[in-house]
Amino acid sequence: MTVADPLPAVEAEAERLLRLLMHVDCDPHGRTWNLDTCREIAPLTLEINRLKREKDAVILTHSYVEPEIIYGVGDFKGDSYYLSEKARESRAKIIVFAGVVFMAETAKILSPHATVVVPDRHSGCSLADSIDGEGVRRLKALYPDATVVCYINSTAEVKAESDVCVTSGNVYDIVANLPAQRVLFVPDRLMAENVREELKRRGVAKQIISSDGTCVVHDQFTPAQIAEARAQFPGLKVVTHPECRPEVAAVADFVGSTGAMMTYVKATAAPYFLMLTECGLVGRLEVEAPEKNFIGGCRLCPYMKMNTLEKVRDALLAPRPDQIITLDEDLRQRAARCIDRMFELAPKK
Ligand code: 13P
Ligand code: SF4
Repeated sequence: MTVADPLPAVEAEAERLLRLLMHVDCDPHGRTWNLDTCREIAPLTLEINRLKREKDAVILTHSYVEPEIIYGVGDFKGDSYYLSEKARESRAKIIVFAGVVFMAETAKILSPHATVVVPDRHSGCSLADSIDGEGVRRLKALYPDATVVCYINSTAEVKAESDVCVTSGNVYDIVANLPAQRVLFVPDRLMAENVREELKRRGVAKQIISSDGTCVVHDQFTPAQIAEARAQFPGLKVVTHPECRPEVAAVADFVGSTGAMMTYVKATAAPYFLMLTECGLVGRLEVEAPEKNFIGGCRLCPYMKMNTLEKVRDALLAPRPDQIITLDEDLRQRAARCIDRMFELAPKK
């Protein structure tokens, strides 16, 4: 049985949460973050933070999950590359991954000693779910001379079949520097198209063959949406992700990983920003750069939004079998080689 926290502790926690969340306007539930809203969640954030200490756990949070998870209980927040680094460095007994299942699998691959748990087993990803190991093996049989590059948004099985993993932050540099002339890129067709365009710009000759996955969020944005926004908001800066269509990337002011998108916005003076990505990133920027103005346009990822504070607490308190990530050891080692290769080849910051 959990003991309720004394009222002054709950009040102090609500005030801490309010200082962090007060500028969040882009909330998935349309909530206004005031003292009452913070008082409602404070007992839960106190409980989760106490459980973390008792159980030697860390919580990794992707920037797309709800702000009360990121700022209320998260230990590390960021993009896929950053969170993979943190999972690899972690010595905690338990890693709770508030993101999606492929991210938690990546953490388990890199931190096999830890118990890695996910708040919701159904938090998939349209990219990761678009191809399995057998699909990659079929493509490899068609192109036996190709180097197989997998985007990190892929299952452990797909990573185990691949030569090197990439993230949105290092994909262009890693692919451009590969010795192979022919690259088989899975699972993101739109990212592969963006890679082709970037290699053309850099004067690098390579054949990029891809499978047919797309991100349900980033595939929705169009150049017409950008043109309309620019006409309405002079001086607007348009910021996108490499999972967007190439015709969208071509007319944006900046294209990069979610981490790089945040850095760009913080460092850029502009009257308005249009963030063509998942709405959680706008929430993060409202917390960390409250002086910036964002116009609508972002979209919700249904998978990232399956994470809730209650599910994080349950995964930490007494994880159900479906919340615990388990991997066959041979498959894990093969997938680890592909991710380690990424750490070797990624540009050093
Ligand atoms: P980042 O690694 O850039 O955060 O991208 C992850 C993702 O799922 C984007 O949709
Ligand atoms: Fe996958 Fe797209 Fe959601 Fe990212 S935003 S987790 S790529 S479905």
